[in-house]
Amino acid sequence: MEEQIIDPWTVESKNGIDYLKLIRHFGCDPIDGKLIKRFEQVTRRKAHTWLRRGLFFSHKDLELCLNDYEKNIPIYLYTGRGPSSESLHLGHLVPFMFTKWLQDVFNAVLIIQMSDDEKFAFKGGDLEYYENLTFENSKDIIACGFNVDKTFIFSNTHSMGGELYKNVVKIENCISGNAIKTIYGLTSDRKIGEIAWACRQSAPAFSSSFADILHPDAKYNLYPDGSRKYEPYVNIRCLVPMAIDQRPYFAMTRDVAERIGGLKPSEIHSEFLPSLGGITTKMSSTHQTPPVFLTDNPKTIQTKIKKSFSGGKDTLELHREHGGDLRTDVAYNYLLYFCEDDKVLEKIAHQYGSGEMLSGEIKKILTDILVDLVIKHQENRSKITDEILTKYFDRYRMFDTRVVHDDGLTKDFVLDTDENYHNMGVNFDRFFGHYKAKDVIV
Ligand code: TRP
Repeated sequence: MEEQIIDPWTVESKNGIDYLKLIRHFGCDPIDGKLIKRFEQVTRRKAHTWLRRGLFFSHKDLELCLNDYEKNIPIYLYTGRGPSSESLHLGHLVPFMFTKWLQDVFNAVLIIQMSDDEKFAFKGGDLEYYENLTFENSKDIIACGFNVDKTFIFSNTHSMGGELYKNVVKIENCISGNAIKTIYGLTSDRKIGEIAWACRQSAPAFSSSFADILHPDAKYNLYPDGSRKYEPYVNIRCLVPMAIDQRPYFAMTRDVAERIGGLKPSEIHSEFLPSLGGITTKMSSTHQTPPVFLTDNPKTIQTKIKKSFSGGKDTLELHREHGGDLRTDVAYNYLLYFCEDDKVLEKIAHQYGSGEMLSGEIKKILTDILVDLVIKHQENRSKITDEILTKYFDRYRMFDTRVVHDDGLTKDFVLDTDENYHNMGVNFDRFFGHYKAKDVIV
């Protein structure tokens, strides 16, 4: 096996994923302290923990969104989910929680694609099954707290038409079967639905696909069938938050942008939340180690964390002497995401890394945090009525796309020192001095 295989369908590595290598492989740029400083300067907000800690570690043209925002030019956000299982798991939550934060920071309209057609194409079965999952899964997404007035969720099978579909067919005209084979490894023996899929994930990254929502002032005439015929208008830039495995879709999208008269979308990429079984692969419903589902009860969460891969030593004596391995310890790697306080995390790193803290203890800390998170999620989800759900899917609303800088909220914001910025992003030392810092030259 190669050192690592990362694509939209496979996440496998021999010894843990080398994310810096992935940046080079995918032709992206690392998120470093300089960019984080610029982010804070423009948005007047403290960067999200996941940015600071280098968990959202890679990007493409993020500066362009910051430049727009600075000049009061609106941007919009686009992300999606392939509804393929009844329940989302923790790993699914990461991009959505981050997207919710981005929506708050930029006060931007967010478009969420539910790709029921994608899952039907790749997994087969009944189309209706995936259509229903679209709505069930959307409740979990909405429970992340998205602003209802600024969020549009749609099912691909129900919405593929009009401006969106026009962009799909334009993209299809730019992409050959050979390109699909090169980019995704999908050969001509694959189903047409699989081969054509990428163009449908791509199209929402162009604002013209949602002209009615994102360009409310655009002029149009009507076709005889009542469809809108838009006058040319100016595109706004799209920012797509995603896990890094989705990058090939947007490399392709950026490639065709000019040819279809759109702007290249900006991207921001996360690492994968590791599987409970170990850091060589991501959390996934189909792996032998089951993930923490958002429907799990506290007892189940506790049991799953207890069984998670530990970086602790085999005997108490050895552990006290050598300490746990923070790099491979799943509980520690999860705390990087879910223990927000740097001081607390640092203390855990020292105690666990030195052997003062035992494996059972670090797992208990994580369990408490996750139980709290999952219970809160379940509470939020239970409040989502069918009426609320329908609202998020309603296209015929007014969406306010204007940029609002909330000066009242942000006037007291002060930037950090350059020294501190230097140690953020891909330079962040997640093990607090326990191991030689990795080489971040990419
Ligand atoms: N392909 C993604 C999946 O399998 C779903 C998806 C659709 C998506 N559109 C997207 C993900 C845009 C990120 C950004 O789950």
